[in-house]
Amino acid sequence: MRQTLTQKIQTDFDGIALLEQPTWNHNSHYHSFLLKQLPAQCANILEIGCGTGAFSRLLAQRSHRVKAIDLSPKMIEVAQCQCECYINIDFQVADILQWEFPVEHFDAIVSIATFHHLPLENLLPSLKAALKQGGKLIVLDLVEHEIVRDSLSDVIAVPLSWIFQMFKNRRIRPTREAAEIWREHGRTDKYLTQSQAQQIYPKVLTRAIVRKHLFWRYSVVWQKERIASN
Ligand SMILES: C[S@@+](CC[C@H](N)C(=O)[O-])C[C@H]1O[C@@H](n2cnc3c(N)ncnc32)[C@H](O)[C@@H]1O
Repeated sequence: MRQTLTQKIQTDFDGIALLEQPTWNHNSHYHSFLLKQLPAQCANILEIGCGTGAFSRLLAQRSHRVKAIDLSPKMIEVAQCQCECYINIDFQVADILQWEFPVEHFDAIVSIATFHHLPLENLLPSLKAALKQGGKLIVLDLVEHEIVRDSLSDVIAVPLSWIFQMFKNRRIRPTREAAEIWREHGRTDKYLTQSQAQQIYPKVLTRAIVRKHLFWRYSVVWQKERIASN
C-alpha cells in the first residue's frame, strides 16, 4: 500500500518537475520566515523534499553543507541543473522513509510542503535523533481548514494571493497542463488541521511551536535541548 502511494507520489513529481516553476507561490512566500528560524551557525543542514532546489540555494548561503533529498529523480535532475554553482549542496534521490539518518549530525532539518506525504509518527523520532543538541527542526506544510475563522481568512488570503501572483508571476492562473497535473496529484493528498498538528508534533517534540499562516500553511519550529555536561 505504502509502496504504491510512494510510487504515485514519485510519478506525480517527476511530471511536476518538468513544468515551468512560478517565481512566487504559497511556499516561497514563507522562505524568509523559515530562514529566520535557522540557528545562527550551521555546518550541516538536511532538506527533506527539496524539489527543484529553490530553498536549497538559500540554505547553501547559510550553511557549510546542505544535504538535499527528494524522492523524484526528475526533481533532483532539475535542481542539480539550477544549482550548478553551489558546490556545497549534495543532492540525492532517496525516499526519506528508507534513508539512514546519521546520529546527532544536523544543525537544522528543514522541509517545505512535503510532510503531508509522510507518516510523521515514524519519521519524527528519526529526525529528533539526527539533530545535534541545540539543532532545529523547521517545517512548513499545507493545512486543512477546520473552523469558521479559517474560511473567513480566505476573504483576505484569496485576493492577496491573486495580487502576489499577478505581480510576481505575471499570471493568476496556472497553465492548463499544470492545473491538470496538480489536480491529479491532489487526489491522494491529505493535510493535517492545525489542531491535529498541535497534537502530533509535541508528542515527540516537546514544546514544538506550531503556527498557522495565511496562505494555507502551518509551520513547526522545534529546538533540541542541550544536555549540560559537567
Ligand atoms: C510539493 S513538493 C515541494 C518541493 C519543495 N520543497 C518546494 O517547496 O518547492 C514535495 C516534494 O517532496 C518530495 N517527496 C515526497 N515524498 C518524499 C519522500 N518519501 N522522500 C523524499 N522526498 C519526498 C516530492 O518528490 C516533491 O518534490
